[in-house]
Amino acid sequence: MPGVLLGDVFPNFEAETTIGKIKFHDFLGDSWGILFSHPKDFTPVCTTELACAASLTKNFQKRGVKMIALSIDSVEDHRNWSKDVMAFNDDLESPLPFPIIADDKRELSVQLGMLDPDERDKDGMPLTARCVFVVGPDKKLKLSILYPATTGRNFDEILRVIDSLQLTAQKKVATPVNWKPGDKVMVIPTLSEAEAASHFPSGVTTKELPSGKKYLRYTQP
Ligand code: BEZ
Repeated sequence: MPGVLLGDVFPNFEAETTIGKIKFHDFLGDSWGILFSHPKDFTPVCTTELACAASLTKNFQKRGVKMIALSIDSVEDHRNWSKDVMAFNDDLESPLPFPIIADDKRELSVQLGMLDPDERDKDGMPLTARCVFVVGPDKKLKLSILYPATTGRNFDEILRVIDSLQLTAQKKVATPVNWKPGDKVMVIPTLSEAEAASHFPSGVTTKELPSGKKYLRYTQP
């Protein structure tokens, strides 16, 4: 089955975009990256999503994440639709602050497993689902999310998972349910008690459990 799995080096594809032809790895440079697809230009939910992504550009920049969108529409459609997207944010002056890939031949969408067989255009051709790929500076896939066309994504959640990915790439911790930056984190299970004590000088709190096992260990990162 085509697609990219966690830990895979993300394909270094070439693509036409609203900023010209790119090679994905060159586009990313040493940054983190987010590639997110939408089903179709000039559709309502997609417009709200890309407008939200545009409004959060500074938040992605702050985290060192380069943004790029993708759909099966042409560069010309992307350029025209971008004005509607920015108008949705009541910004008639600024260009869309990230490029959009024109995958009108669906080659990339097939390679990356992005097509939704249940959503089709008026000619019966499948549309791209709402995929999110977060790629690390090592060019490996760190996270993927796949939503159907009928459900818009939550870009605050995407920023939250990027915070988790970036924290857990640096420290031997995992982020618990509904974690947000500043909250306590969990010590990863593979770390021994002695290792945990040396890694986390601020201290480790272990919750007592009926099993007697000491795996629920909190610390402040
Ligand atoms: C939308 O963006 O509103 C949309 C696009 C394709 C199918 C359903 C909804």
